[in-house]
Amino acid sequence: MFKEIHPIELEIGELRILDAAAGADWTKVRPSIFGNIFEGAFQSDEGKKKRHAHGIHFTSEGDIKRIVLPTIVDYWGDRIAAAHSLDELQVLHRELSEYKILDPACGSGNFLYVAYQDLKAVEFDLLQRLQLLDPSRSYQSLVTPQQFFGMDINSFAVELAKVTLMIGRTVAIRKLDLPENSLPLDTLDKNIVCADALFTDWVKADAIIGNPPFLGGSRIRKELTDDYAERVFAKFGEIHAQVDFASYWFRLAHECLERNGRAGLVATNSISQGKSRAVSLDYIVQNDGYIYDAGGSIRRLENAENSLWDGDVESTIALFQGLKFKRAVNFVGYLRKHRQRIPEYGYLHQLKITIGSGSVESSIKQIGRRIKISGAQWKKENIAQVLKHRCAYLNGFLDSPKYNYSVPN
Ligand SMILES: C[S@@+](CC[C@H](N)C(=O)[O-])C[C@H]1O[C@@H](n2cnc3c(N)ncnc32)[C@H](O)[C@@H]1O
Repeated sequence: MFKEIHPIELEIGELRILDAAAGADWTKVRPSIFGNIFEGAFQSDEGKKKRHAHGIHFTSEGDIKRIVLPTIVDYWGDRIAAAHSLDELQVLHRELSEYKILDPACGSGNFLYVAYQDLKAVEFDLLQRLQLLDPSRSYQSLVTPQQFFGMDINSFAVELAKVTLMIGRTVAIRKLDLPENSLPLDTLDKNIVCADALFTDWVKADAIIGNPPFLGGSRIRKELTDDYAERVFAKFGEIHAQVDFASYWFRLAHECLERNGRAGLVATNSISQGKSRAVSLDYIVQNDGYIYDAGGSIRRLENAENSLWDGDVESTIALFQGLKFKRAVNFVGYLRKHRQRIPEYGYLHQLKITIGSGSVESSIKQIGRRIKISGAQWKKENIAQVLKHRCAYLNGFLDSPKYNYSVPN
């Protein structure tokens, strides 16, 4: 299973558990399960204390998406949609294959799991566009788990995160029907490491994501010992005992990002107030950083997704009215320009008609990965449907009013 084999001794009971786990269908696995396993390891009184001190609690899939979507998926989606020539797309593909993602408090690896799935899906869209422009060549997926990095102070979390990412790889292979082998498993020992993020050099990443531990400033001494608190304050100088523990991650993320890199981190409200704000968000802005989104855009995205699903372009545009973020402005531009091309996907879906893989369709798909459209994969059985839809578009049938839509056979 592994390239390098390190035998482990297992008792008969453990072998039985392993056998049962191997027989399960892992394609439907949700990232929360890894978080549950991680949290479950801290049930004793001692464990609960540790869990509290180290801010160990898992992040819901919805919250992970709130980070991964704007930090990684939208960024790449915009770039891919804006690239029109074969050259531009090939350059993007190379860049995508060198793109590094780090979670510096990775716990069970659930952010890495979601980010891996999403980056593979982004690459899948890119490969489809490449293939359309250059059918004579066969383009292969280049994104690998070796582009993903994690760090956690807890050694069990680190081992779990490696397994989580490997499962993520297998799930992506199955989901996207990729011609890749999931075995042998990658060795991720150098990528996901057990270390204190405040006292370890971070890998230079293009995207930093995660949910760093939060702990009120006044509790750092009590929960993490005087010695540790002194080391932290000595290292970060002007940051005093009053700031939330998570603030340090914001500052380090800013310092360790590659130029043009992006970070998306979960935090409590404290990060927007008082000293915690001064040493994190304000520090970023004062040092050449740019905060392009803070807080609640997810509801808007969900509403946009639902409106588009119903083919209601006007309501979608209204949701983004007045927003100055480049992403929002570009997206509204798209919708205005292509409003005639945007059909009622929900209805098409009911008819089992797949959508195409043009830039508009890709943009819409990226409005949220939970979208229920099965993209055309150019499998033999899909071709008729894709052509049907394309013909309907070319013949102007997609302009038909809601519920009157029909595709000629
Ligand atoms: C809020 S949890 C998030 C974990 C994971 N993303 C999840 O959702 O399951 C915070 C994580 O930070 C880790 N942590 C706490 N202090 C740390 C430190 N000094 N360096 C690195 N990781 C740390 C904890 O072990 C925990 O896994």
